[in-house]
Amino acid sequence: MEEELIVTLLINAFDARMYSYCPYSGYAVGAAILTDDDEIYRGCNVENSSYGATICAERCAGLKAVSEGKKKFRAIAIVGAPKDASEVNDYAYPCGICRQFLYEFGGGDMTVIVAKSIDDKKVFKLSELLPEAFSSDNLN
Ligand code: THU
Repeated sequence: MEEELIVTLLINAFDARMYSYCPYSGYAVGAAILTDDDEIYRGCNVENSSYGATICAERCAGLKAVSEGKKKFRAIAIVGAPKDASEVNDYAYPCGICRQFLYEFGGGDMTVIVAKSIDDKKVFKLSELLPEAFSSDNLN
């Protein structure tokens, strides 16, 4: 994936993180998904007093895309850190549920970018983060 596109996705993920609603964990996450028609959908984590009702940033972005008719994801950028942190000190890898969710619409070839900054990033294929995935193929 081209560097310029990766940077654009990261800028969107950092921006989306600003809207995180995380009064319980204090951990703010932002995500930006690139769909196959080159649109970008952004999301943040949205927590709830009933903790299990919390939505991760990745699924927030993905649900926005799918609910607008986009069912093929090319890439996602993810950024996470404590809400008041002045800088991002760790890579925020997608949780297990989000990996499975992303696989549904991106498959193993989807690009997953995690970053501490625009320059400090790691790029994976989803198949590396979710090997031997369960998918619709298993249902046939
Ligand atoms: N979180 C995400 O948004 N994405 C992940 O992949 C992992 C966790 C959120 C959920 C919760 O609001 C906070 O991070 C702490 O778990």
